Amino acid sequence: MIILAIESSCDETSAAVLVDSEMRSNVIAAQLIHEQYGGVVPELASRAHQQHIWPVVERALADAKVTKTDVSAIAFTRGPGLLGSLLVGASFAKALALGLRVPLIEVNHMQAHVLAHFIDDPDRPEKPQFPFLCLTVSGGHTQIVRVDGPLDMHVIGQTMDDAVGEAFDKSAKLLGLPYPGGPLIDKYAAEGNPLAYRFPMSEMPDFNFSFSGIKTAILYFLRQQTKENPDFIQQNLPDICASIQHTLVQMLLTKLKRAVRETGIQQIAVAGGVSANRGLRTALSQLGQEQGWSVFIPRFDYCTDNAAMIAMAAKFKYEQGDFTDQTVSPLPRMSF
Ligand code: KG4
Ligand code: ZN
Repeated sequence: MIILAIESSCDETSAAVLVDSEMRSNVIAAQLIHEQYGGVVPELASRAHQQHIWPVVERALADAKVTKTDVSAIAFTRGPGLLGSLLVGASFAKALALGLRVPLIEVNHMQAHVLAHFIDDPDRPEKPQFPFLCLTVSGGHTQIVRVDGPLDMHVIGQTMDDAVGEAFDKSAKLLGLPYPGGPLIDKYAAEGNPLAYRFPMSEMPDFNFSFSGIKTAILYFLRQQTKENPDFIQQNLPDICASIQHTLVQMLLTKLKRAVRETGIQQIAVAGGVSANRGLRTALSQLGQEQGWSVFIPRFDYCTDNAAMIAMAAKFKYEQGDFTDQTVSPLPRMSF
């Protein structure tokens, strides 16, 4: 079984090749063009996908030492994501599957983030046992997912407004940092005091989250401080970043703790771009140790968007003969 997978839901063009259970390649082309605009510009993202997709696929095949005629199935991200971006990957995958006369597999991007935990990795031999809870945190989503099987997942809590990745990026923008600001907050936070400043944590019912309030609180806080000292941000960047990160991480972990308490499930995974955050990784490991949970944290390159996770999700579908046909079209909003 050789699966060629394509991911193009946002601003990363990626292709991966899975041979049986070995992830042979995972090529990711980032789009730097968005940096200067402070966020992803959808039209520019789809154009960049068009430029990158063929070279990225060729590299993925070459790195995996296979040719396109060896491929058993083509997988692609159907959604959720930006329509124009998804269209490039979907059209490419459909055309290639038609030309090669191989089956086509559609993958839900958020399910794939969760299933990245099942990619074989000698450094991470342990895999989560079903049922497990996955805190799925990215630029567009913040969810607590109950995972009963590879393709049997239910969102039991989610954000009511901004995603936590968006909260990281928007806070970074207020600090004058370029897009995507999440990794930069992480970087500066490493040298700062997480308790230097306090920001309010909004309370939502059940297992749901809200991150729009903290963004406004940070805005007012920075306005006040820079009025008194125009160099406040430059002089205190590590402490500000550490305090923002600490607040966001605590908001996530408070809800996760509640979900564990109420479901009784103690197998805990984290997935999505924000799971690359070192503050979250450390705090979750510590909490897991204290509480006696089994905690699963992905490798850095499987946290942010990548086609390896699409290939992994597709493998489960391939084994069940769950294929799609040429009438399939992308779904910018796609639930599971
Ligand atoms: O999963 P992902 O690559 O794309 C989406 O599906 O959205 O997640 C991207 C998000 C961005 O908001 C980015 O700032 C955030 O993940 N992110 C981080 C870190 N690395 C990526 N946020 C905080 N700390 C990081 N180290
Ligand atoms: Zn993602």
